[in-house]
Amino acid sequence: MARRKYVVGNWKMNGLTAALGEAQAIFAAAGAHPAVDIALCPPFTLIGAMVAAAPGAVVGGQDCHAAASGAFTGSIAAPMLVDAGAALVIVGHSERREGFGESDADVRAKAEAALSAGLSVILCVGEPREVRESGDAVDYVLAQVAGSLPGAFDPARLAIAYEPIWAIGTGLVPTVADVAEMHGAIRAKLGEQAGAEAADAMRILYGGSVNGENAAELLGAGDVDGALVGGASLTAGKFVPIVEAAAGLG
Ligand code: 13P
Repeated sequence: MARRKYVVGNWKMNGLTAALGEAQAIFAAAGAHPAVDIALCPPFTLIGAMVAAAPGAVVGGQDCHAAASGAFTGSIAAPMLVDAGAALVIVGHSERREGFGESDADVRAKAEAALSAGLSVILCVGEPREVRESGDAVDYVLAQVAGSLPGAFDPARLAIAYEPIWAIGTGLVPTVADVAEMHGAIRAKLGEQAGAEAADAMRILYGGSVNGENAAELLGAGDVDGALVGGASLTAGKFVPIVEAAAGLG
């Protein structure tokens, strides 16, 4: 199956109202590349304003709670993201797994809550540096996939993002061969868990220090269907070249 390329910006804890102009510029430029799916995931506080500033744009959250409502001070539920105009949510980012102690079971519960609320999901996995160095990265990541994947899901609404922790925000990237090996292994695991047809339809994104210079090579690797971009998604000047690289591979 031909999977559409998908380039998603994760703004993390960056972005005030003044940044909406960058989002508008990103979505306007992305309009020239209809073969690539684009989304931006700003902080919760900007979701509604970004949807209003860029009508028709696909905007997402960076996390959600597994419960639909309740006494969880400071948390955001999936139906709230929908209410704010979000179409997707990132779950299981390593900055949540590591910084907030989220387990595979927590991530799975969040993904299931998001899907039930009608959101699409980007489910993140990725190994720390010592696991890569010890040669166990594939086994580590496949265990995360097995533990975090929802029980039942529409493959069109669930993407996996492989983000090696040591590559996030460091300027380091794995070799293209290592990316292709990992993405191929993830797709085989998805096939075991969800069936070959679902695995073939699902998009697997690479994330970690993607920029305009390395995007074509990384996105051209086997089984790579797009990118989850942090730092280089904050401005149109840095993000649009990544979209252009994805379009060139279309
Ligand atoms: P950087 O692109 O800044 O390395 O961040 C990647 C990431 O964590 C996206 O979710």
